[in-house]
Amino acid sequence: MTDDSLRTIDVSVEFSGLRALDGVSLSISPGEILGLIGPNGSGKTTLVNAITGQVPIAAGRILCGQADLTGFSPREASLRGIARSFQVVRLFNNLTVTENVEAAAMAHGKGRRASRDKARNLLAEFGLEARAEDLAIGLSYGDKRRVEISRALAADPKFLLLDEPAAGMNEAETAALLSILEELPRTNGLGLLIIDHDMRLIMRLCDRLHVLASGRTIAVGDKESVRSNSLVIEAYLGTGAETAHA
Ligand SMILES: Nc1ncnc2c1ncn2[C@@H]1O[C@H](COP(=O)(O)OP(=O)(O)OP(=O)(O)O)[C@@H](O)[C@H]1O
Ligand SMILES: [Mg+2]
Repeated sequence: MTDDSLRTIDVSVEFSGLRALDGVSLSISPGEILGLIGPNGSGKTTLVNAITGQVPIAAGRILCGQADLTGFSPREASLRGIARSFQVVRLFNNLTVTENVEAAAMAHGKGRRASRDKARNLLAEFGLEARAEDLAIGLSYGDKRRVEISRALAADPKFLLLDEPAAGMNEAETAALLSILEELPRTNGLGLLIIDHDMRLIMRLCDRLHVLASGRTIAVGDKESVRSNSLVIEAYLGTGAETAHA
């Protein structure tokens, strides 16, 4: 049987002596929604940065299917089908919403016409049609996040890694986003990794959870087993820390 998952094997990351990740092995299968949770500073963003080549790894490997992505640049990782969003949104402020999404599609080799079609479809899916010709800089925070996720999807990725996608959204915006996200793996087999401190969101969306504390994995498994895991309760859930935000 071939393993078509995206996985890290014993990945460690160091920042001038500080071990931000210590031997973390995580996997996401196509069509699955994995929740990556843990206290502030536990290494969640760093793990996504390591997978997408934003930070170098000190040890370990990153594999996607048969391909070894270890040491890949962000551009190479994205060409291999790994897309992401950032904890702090990154858009072209002085381009319109449509242009932002088109630019992402074109950067992945789609022609002008195909990029326009892709952008139109994504804006419809994300309820952004009314904003299509607005400059990104003037958008609400929630709209900026939706444009960012649309840009990530414009590349038709195999895996999408979302770092706190609902941060800054109100309850209605969050609910709308969740409905879209939960359909993605079902409709196109996308593997989705979601980092969030909102445990209601995590429990509703995710099939499986991976929990970090101080750069190490402390639990992996289905929602029920993780929620009742005493290490997880002690490090995170029991402390009220899941209501914290970065
Ligand atoms: N570029 C960097 N340089 C130095 N230290 C860093 C860097 N990025 C992260 N760190 C440190 O690595 C550790 C893990 O940080 P990381 O941002 O991955 O945590 P996190 O789990 O995403 O936290 P949060 O929930 O607050 O977003 C922290 O101690 C952080 O200060
Ligand atoms: Mg983070």
